[in-house]
Amino acid sequence: MSDQMNKSKINPKDILFEPLRFRNLTVKNRLMRSNISGRIDNYNGSGSEARICWEEKFARGGAGVLISSHVPINVRGRILPNYAMIDTDERIPFWRELGKRIHQYDCKYILQISHSGRQQDMGGIENQGKIALSSTSKSDSFHGFRCKAMSRKEIREVIKQFAQAARRVKAAGLDGIELHSANGYLFTQFLSSAINDRKDEYGGNLKNRARFLLEVVAAVRKEVGNNFHLQAKISAVDYSNDLFFWEKKGTTLEESIQVCKWLEQSGVDALHISTGNSFGHPKNPGGDFPMYEAANNYGVMLPSGIHTSRNMHFFRNPWLQPLFKFLWSRNKPQPIEGFILPHAKAIKKQVHIPVICTGGFQTASVIRKAIEDGSCDAVSMARTLLANPDLPNMFKRGNNKAPKPCTYCNKCLINVLQHPLGCYDVSRFNGDEKKMMKEVMAFYDEAEKRSFK
Ligand SMILES: Cc1cc2nc3c(=O)[nH]c(=O)nc-3n(C[C@H](O)[C@H](O)[C@H](O)COP(=O)(O)O)c2cc1C
Ligand code: SF4
Repeated sequence: MSDQMNKSKINPKDILFEPLRFRNLTVKNRLMRSNISGRIDNYNGSGSEARICWEEKFARGGAGVLISSHVPINVRGRILPNYAMIDTDERIPFWRELGKRIHQYDCKYILQISHSGRQQDMGGIENQGKIALSSTSKSDSFHGFRCKAMSRKEIREVIKQFAQAARRVKAAGLDGIELHSANGYLFTQFLSSAINDRKDEYGGNLKNRARFLLEVVAAVRKEVGNNFHLQAKISAVDYSNDLFFWEKKGTTLEESIQVCKWLEQSGVDALHISTGNSFGHPKNPGGDFPMYEAANNYGVMLPSGIHTSRNMHFFRNPWLQPLFKFLWSRNKPQPIEGFILPHAKAIKKQVHIPVICTGGFQTASVIRKAIEDGSCDAVSMARTLLANPDLPNMFKRGNNKAPKPCTYCNKCLINVLQHPLGCYDVSRFNGDEKKMMKEVMAFYDEAEKRSFK
């Protein structure tokens, strides 16, 4: 047996497979599939059979719960076309069917209700000529996404849209809601001291910057009641100046701890800890910047921002590529696996609700230690399960690692702009491109078989 497959001692009381009890939900183990968005649904926001087949492979692989991709509550908050939405009651039957199919595997499904704000990679035809909503009218410094500061009326409308989306999640028989208040999307745009420049009651001090998120929590609770699982994903630290070192640092860990305390007091049942006030960000998902993939995929974003042509120049010009790589990688976390744990631990010490940590997890012994030493109660895995969807079952069989772990190359992240969600690191397939493509396309093949039997 190879070193990577090193068997860890099989312990019947293994903490990885101890159920996790939230206030309103019990999950069979501590291994959660983290959110991964991809363009695998229909253009009009309806869900696809391909999406259901895609999700099912993670439930089969043994994850205790799947936390969905970014699901827009309104088309103005969609990151890319071909994302299934939850913006009308007509969407409920699709999500109900998806939930049923996931439940067959004794796996739960939490839906992430989301609004992109200005961080909209490609608005699609429905958003053409419309300017994105945000806390600010300043565009971001990387892509230069244009936006406008929301009026109070617009804030009230979006709060209602979140509450209605939450009602639909419950009506679809899913197991819980996650608010996407991390990674630079609309909630982060309000929370972040580096982004939010408002002068009204939604800007300025921390309480004001957290007001929008807390008002959404209250509106959601009013709609779904106190007995339905609600969690929030939050970036513990902004690292706003990671790429461009002359910028402000943004929200600190201490500020996020305070926001987490307020979230707990307002009736949030769990916290999912992430990092960075944009997405992608040099630290999220932690890993390499795949220049070849950027040069070949970023083109679809050219109309989306005022700095996209500049960026394309950096990705394509062999003289500029090393400079960009340097800026991206100079603060790269090392090791990547578990690098957010110190922040999760600091938050966990200050709250009484379970804490889930994301970021590079793919080794049973690392995850076990993180839970046992009180850094978190569970971990969430995105790329690492994309590479090895049956990792939880491998752990259960006593393996400490997959034979071919995720390399954190981030090719999946950049390919997602144009191509199906999947692992695109050909080195994991011994250089066999055909084998890689077969695995990437497998969920479409399965959907085709099911639809046209
Ligand atoms: C292709 C891709 C899409 C993602 N989409 C989302 C998303 O929709 N919502 C979200 O909260 N995080 C999203 N993430 C972040 C992951 O959920 C996760 O927190 C992050 O990748 C770190 O975990 P990992 O190292 O296991 O990938 C995405 C990551 C990737 C690679
Ligand atoms: S392309 Fe594959 S190996 Fe690379 S980060 Fe994504 S899942 Fe991991």
